[in-house]
Amino acid sequence: MAASLIELEKVCKTYNQDRPNQVRALVDIDLSIAANAMVCLQGASGSGKSTLLSVIGCVFPPTSGRATIAGKALSRMPDRFLTIHRLNTIGFIFQHFNLLPGLTVLENITLPLMPLGVGPGERRERAGRLMAMLSIGHRANFPVSQISGGELQRVAIARALVNDPPIILADEPTAHLDHALSLAFMEIMVDLQQAGKTIILTSHDQLITRHPAVERIIGIEDGKIHVP
Ligand SMILES: Nc1ncnc2c1ncn2[C@@H]1O[C@H](COP(=O)(O)OP(=O)(O)OP(=O)(O)O)[C@@H](O)[C@H]1O
Ligand SMILES: [Mg+2]
Repeated sequence: MAASLIELEKVCKTYNQDRPNQVRALVDIDLSIAANAMVCLQGASGSGKSTLLSVIGCVFPPTSGRATIAGKALSRMPDRFLTIHRLNTIGFIFQHFNLLPGLTVLENITLPLMPLGVGPGERRERAGRLMAMLSIGHRANFPVSQISGGELQRVAIARALVNDPPIILADEPTAHLDHALSLAFMEIMVDLQQAGKTIILTSHDQLITRHPAVERIIGIEDGKIHVP
């Protein structure tokens, strides 16, 4: 049987190890997520959800244990390779969108393509397709400081998709959206899943946790998977 797209074995992440401010954010996490799944991480503030997304998202390797993401083991992978693997594999949608306010919509969307050496024509074409799909083409040359909250979120989604990554991660994606925009967000996630993406969300929002497309809720408590 083929290994899962995301496979964690005894994953631990300790911040500030061996210092007085040491935090054991993840403890012995065993988790497999199959390709094309849509799952949601749920747990109290500080339980380790964002840290777990960061390991899955190849932001940093675990302190100990094994994390294999899209066929590559992260442990001891040099930073440079981790970055390239992240850019090719992961689309990250952050709670506060993390867009660069001085840049335009188009510039923000194409940013992840720069380190991969994608040329300007191809960058414009890919961004153009995504802006059309997400109905933000009319804002292409606006600085992101001058667009609405719902538009910002669609720019963040376009940026996460521009590398055509197999895995989409979204950390509290609806925390700052009203009901209609939250529903629209989940419709986009359902379309992406149907297009073959694997989607991992974190949320307290029942619109997400009870959404029919979310097939599994993974509870996290004090850095451990909570088995109900
Ligand atoms: N960069 C860091 N350095 C040190 N400790 C950290 C760091 N990031 C997170 N932590 C700590 O690790 C633990 C897990 O944090 P994490 O951000 O993963 O929680 P979370 O479940 O996402 O919380 P929230 O729901 O508030 O976003 C917390 O105790 C937090 O204070
Ligand atoms: Mg968090």
